[in-house]
Amino acid sequence: MKLVLATSNKGKVREIKELCPEYEVIPYSELIKEFEIVEDAETFKENALIKARAVYKALDDDTLVVIADDSGISVDVLDGAPGIFSARYGGVDASDKDNLYKLMQDIKERGFENSPAHYTAAIAIVTKESERTVHGWMYGTALTKAKGEGGFGYDPMFIPEGYKQTLGELENEIKKKLSHRSKALALMKKVLKSL
Ligand code: IMP
Repeated sequence: MKLVLATSNKGKVREIKELCPEYEVIPYSELIKEFEIVEDAETFKENALIKARAVYKALDDDTLVVIADDSGISVDVLDGAPGIFSARYGGVDASDKDNLYKLMQDIKERGFENSPAHYTAAIAIVTKESERTVHGWMYGTALTKAKGEGGFGYDPMFIPEGYKQTLGELENEIKKKLSHRSKALALMKKVLKSL
């Protein structure tokens, strides 16, 4: 089965391909010209649905299955920020590095060296017949120092529960077992089988 991904975020595309070897995963930008999608909802779930619906409509092919991942990190000492604003935390044109350094700085400015935090992934699945969503979470600690080069986004500042190193330092295989995205994708596969 072909799964069209409503994202062109390189980190997400790589992880989703690795986590779904049984499917042919194709970023939508390989099928049609990339276009801007305004994610203006208040939840990961609704933003994932906005992306999947927009790409499904633009593809105009009712044999396709479109999936979208909306995800982010929530830091307890920042009242859950950046949450749904994770991709734009450092501003509209901010890079992953800008966002990472802003988040570490904001935790420091609150007077903390670290904080409990968690990642959320919402996956929306849109087909001709249905719209479904599933979620996954990964809990751990957000640091104010970046360590390691692995993963993407906020991974160098995040230590998953039960570990002593950041996702930037840990083997990719460990993130694959633990992550919010892998948990959500495991549920997605069950949904796809039931469709
Ligand atoms: P989205 O594309 O609007 O869902 O934005 C997700 C943002 O959350 C990304 O730009 C990353 O900064 C962050 N994010 C989501 N998942 C991960 C992850 O697994 N590791 C690191 N950062 C992540």
